[in-house]
Amino acid sequence: MSSSVIDKMLEKHKGAKRDSLIPILQEIQESEGYLSFDALLAVSRFLNLPLSKIYGVASFYNQFKFQAPGKYQIQVCRGTACHVKGSAGVLEAIKRYLKIDAGQTTKDKLFSIDVVACVGVCSLAPVVCINGEYYAGVTPEKIENILKEYQSKEGNA
Ligand code: FES
Repeated sequence: MSSSVIDKMLEKHKGAKRDSLIPILQEIQESEGYLSFDALLAVSRFLNLPLSKIYGVASFYNQFKFQAPGKYQIQVCRGTACHVKGSAGVLEAIKRYLKIDAGQTTKDKLFSIDVVACVGVCSLAPVVCINGEYYAGVTPEKIENILKEYQSKEGNA
């Protein structure tokens, strides 16, 4: 989000007090997919709150991200059905393979991982969704191959 876009958005909240922090952060994230340093700085100035305080509040809530999502957004379902069918192992395999944690983006900006609640296709558990495409019955081995395919598509294999 360019600073002028942020300023315009903040203008709508003119006169806002500290209790508007969360709704403002939500609005930025909805629009941008994450909270950039520049956006947080602008909010800090706007609400006259120290940046450290804003980081503190935002990092308390899992919904906020501080890194731009990857080109391929991997959503690992951790709902009950997927959990029972081994989604924890699938998540671990993805983290190990990409060398990032859930909520992070790879250095090449290709992949980001998100842990999500039930995505509504429990009969396909465990499910991983990449940019809206569902992969059913995923295992740690399968997901590694799927990720390799994405990488070779990008010439990174
Ligand atoms: S629990 Fe994963 S799709 Fe329902």
